[in-house]
Amino acid sequence: MYLMVMSVMAPPLPVILLLIGQGVYSAADGWSVSYSSSHICALKDSTVTINCTYKYPTGHHITEVLWTNTIVPCIDAPDLFKESEYRERIQYLGDKQHDCSVRLTDVRHTDKQEYYFRFITNKGKWIGAPGVTLDVTDLQVESEGETVMEGHPVNLTCKSRCSLTDTSTFIWFRNTQTLNDTNKKLILPSVRRENAGDYRCAVQGHKLTSPHQRLNVTYPPKQTSVAVNPCCVIVEGDSVNLTCISQSNPPANISWFKEETSVGSGNIFIISNIRSDHIGEYKCKAENELGEKYSESVTLNVLSVRCVSLSVALGVGCCLGVCGASAILLIVMYICRRKSLRRKASERKLKNDDVSNDTYTALELKSRSSDLYGTLTPNQKMM
Ligand SMILES: *[C@@H]1O[C@H](CO)[C@@H](O)[C@H](O)[C@H]1NC(C)=O
Ligand SMILES: *[C@@H]1O[C@H](CO)[C@@H](O)[C@H](O)[C@H]1NC(C)=O
Ligand SMILES: *[C@@H]1O[C@H](CO)[C@@H](O)[C@H](O)[C@H]1NC(C)=O
Ligand SMILES: *[C@@H]1O[C@H](CO)[C@@H](O)[C@H](O)[C@H]1NC(C)=O
Ligand SMILES: *[C@@H]1O[C@H](CO)[C@@H](O)[C@H](O)[C@H]1NC(C)=O
Ligand SMILES: *[C@@H]1O[C@H](CO)[C@@H](O)[C@H](O)[C@H]1NC(C)=O
Repeated sequence: MYLMVMSVMAPPLPVILLLIGQGVYSAADGWSVSYSSSHICALKDSTVTINCTYKYPTGHHITEVLWTNTIVPCIDAPDLFKESEYRERIQYLGDKQHDCSVRLTDVRHTDKQEYYFRFITNKGKWIGAPGVTLDVTDLQVESEGETVMEGHPVNLTCKSRCSLTDTSTFIWFRNTQTLNDTNKKLILPSVRRENAGDYRCAVQGHKLTSPHQRLNVTYPPKQTSVAVNPCCVIVEGDSVNLTCISQSNPPANISWFKEETSVGSGNIFIISNIRSDHIGEYKCKAENELGEKYSESVTLNVLSVRCVSLSVALGVGCCLGVCGASAILLIVMYICRRKSLRRKASERKLKNDDVSNDTYTALELKSRSSDLYGTLTPNQKMM
């Protein structure tokens, strides 16, 4: 019976604990408590079971069993089954013979302590020290950087403050999607655009999930193209929007070219009151800090009002049954187009003489996050 022995020897406190821990007296007298493990790493909110057995000399019978988190000689240790912090969450799975297993549910950070089993017989008492050290951990997704360039490697690790058992199966989420990876480390040897998102991790069988960690994948502009609106048939005096469509991260700066001359900037290039001297090939350039990409050129053809009315007249005539006219329509359209192109060619030669008063307006779309269109850039003049 250790308390008696202690008071006789009266060694300093650390030595007492050491002697108890080594079970010096149990060997001789048959007292002992043994735990399934001396250190447990538990996830917050999880349930922990400590398997435990105990022994005492024959002839004794048990009067009291309890679990405690304090070991102070000569003072009765608090009984966790009666403590308000634990009462609702602790369950004794053992008995009053040799099983002292215990279960703690909804593990909290404040549970990070050392726990001991203590029992009292009709002739003595014993505490199983050292006890079981409980460590409580959250989960955290860790990566070397939030922003990674496309094609570069990145590893995401599901971190815990103490080491969970090697058999733990991890669950990975990207946004709301569950991924197939089950390892502690999510290895992306060559990151792709689709890998961007908010990552979280969890351990199978546990409800705890980590906070999310963003992965931002940057890449130069790709798939740059021009959309013309309204499309196809553009008549003199119309207003036409050219929109530069491109994918990039971060968002690209857009600039516009007619043939090789820079004519403006901003995602949408507006030509109001279009005239024949606007005929030509347009393209846009998308540029961010990682690179640039030109679109294919689009050719803007403008029909003169005269040609259009003639065509419409002939079209209507055709519908009314004068179908021979449809052939003439095609010829007229062809001639109109030829004339336009010829005019365009000659204008190109004369371009410096003819400074148009028409305005080209480029609308700058500030950023993708902005709800409003940004400022109007100064009106652009063209050749
Ligand atoms: C505790 O005992 C139970 C039942 O005997 C067993 O299933 C479980 O694996 C044990 N746990 C540990 C941590 O040894
Ligand atoms: C990612 O982890 C793998 C395997 O552990 C390692 O070989 C690689 O160097 C790591 N990559 C980075 C970018 O840390
Ligand atoms: C998971 O694996 C299945 C089968 O191999 C595959 O069809 C599915 O696309 C994968 N899911 C993800 C998110 O990679
Ligand atoms: C051109 O863009 C402006 C500004 O976004 C818009 O108000 C206008 O309706 C567009 N015009 C056409 C023909 O799409
Ligand atoms: C990604 O990172 C770049 C560079 O830091 C930043 O400019 C961009 O806005 C970020 N993109 C997203 C979607 O967070
Ligand atoms: C994009 O435009 C802004 C504002 O004009 C400028 O500060 C920035 O350097 C430009 N970025 C690139 C990659 O050209």
